[in-house]
Amino acid sequence: MMYHYTQGEPTRQGHKGIPEGMFEEEQGLEGFFGPVSHLIKEKPSTRWTSIEGNLRPRMFDLVKHLATETPTGAAAPLIGQRLFYNNDVTVSSLWVQPGTAPDQLVSRRNADGDWLYFCHKGRGTLLSEYGLLEFTPGTYIVMPKCVGHTFVVTEPTQFFVIENRTSHFREPDRGIVGRHAPWDPNALVKPDLDRMYDFMRKTGVDVRRIVIKHTDELTSMGYGECVYDVKGWKGDLYPFTLHMYHIKPIMSHRVHLPPSVHSTFVARGFVVCSFLPRPMEEDKDALRVPFYHQNIDYDEILFYHDGDFFSRDNLHAGMMSFHPAGFPHGPHPKAMEKVKAKTHTDEKAVMLDTRWPLKRDPALDRWELTEYWKSWMVTTPR
Ligand SMILES: [Fe+2]
Repeated sequence: MMYHYTQGEPTRQGHKGIPEGMFEEEQGLEGFFGPVSHLIKEKPSTRWTSIEGNLRPRMFDLVKHLATETPTGAAAPLIGQRLFYNNDVTVSSLWVQPGTAPDQLVSRRNADGDWLYFCHKGRGTLLSEYGLLEFTPGTYIVMPKCVGHTFVVTEPTQFFVIENRTSHFREPDRGIVGRHAPWDPNALVKPDLDRMYDFMRKTGVDVRRIVIKHTDELTSMGYGECVYDVKGWKGDLYPFTLHMYHIKPIMSHRVHLPPSVHSTFVARGFVVCSFLPRPMEEDKDALRVPFYHQNIDYDEILFYHDGDFFSRDNLHAGMMSFHPAGFPHGPHPKAMEKVKAKTHTDEKAVMLDTRWPLKRDPALDRWELTEYWKSWMVTTPR
């Protein structure tokens, strides 16, 4: 057991009262839930002038490329383009196009784990053995392992897909904020069987093929009639949706809270957070940009969904950053100036934090902005 201890001239509280012209760096274990220290430095630790080796911050532009390029990998028809992976989780970008004939649609089934689909672009209807669900940009769909489902989209639709390979998604611990924050349990949308059969009658949907992913290989099963024939069900295992709109971010108007308060789903070995628009901290001496930090035990992926990303130049929706554990990162130097004029953040993003290191799919190299690691090298404002 370690106890709080101070040396030199520390601050009294984290993210607050940082002396003019100085920088705070947070070093934390266990995703900032374990031992944490705040170091006050004269310069940010991100002022590197060279990085030689593989360990570096990375940025990828998924907009320009993934819509038009054919994804690689044996599981591509179901997962799209794989981006990152480790034993616990796989991250991919899946495009679903409209126009498939109603009798050519297939039922998708994942025998490798649960899928969490985040709808980035497009909209449509999801048919499943449990009933109908709908999605628009900002919808999370939690699809349990081995549940058959079919997407019917009315426009090109892009999902950011997180596959949970060693556990099942659960809610974060709501702790002292009570049962109805950051979202009311009633905000979860459950599947509707009656609406699904109504939809199928009107659109002529007739699904006679199930494609199953097992050990990342695909198997196709044909049927002589429609595979969706459930007349009723009961239980606590079923797909559901949660729209970002219904998540009310937890914040303090006085001090910057750690990213863990934005946890949306937790799983073995990783956590999914939603960053949503919120007012800025009001205290005069409060840090108003994300603090410089070393999230020592976690790799971090941030997928930019929508809004104005003030923390960095040339950042737009559909980009994805990768900040591996092992060195500090934090706001772009220019964000320090820009934040003075801001009263609210306006960005919507999905963060994936993984306990064990992520590997990059080789396909990602084509979409990397290779100069990204240099973006902190601008002279820091003093
Ligand atoms: Fe981070």
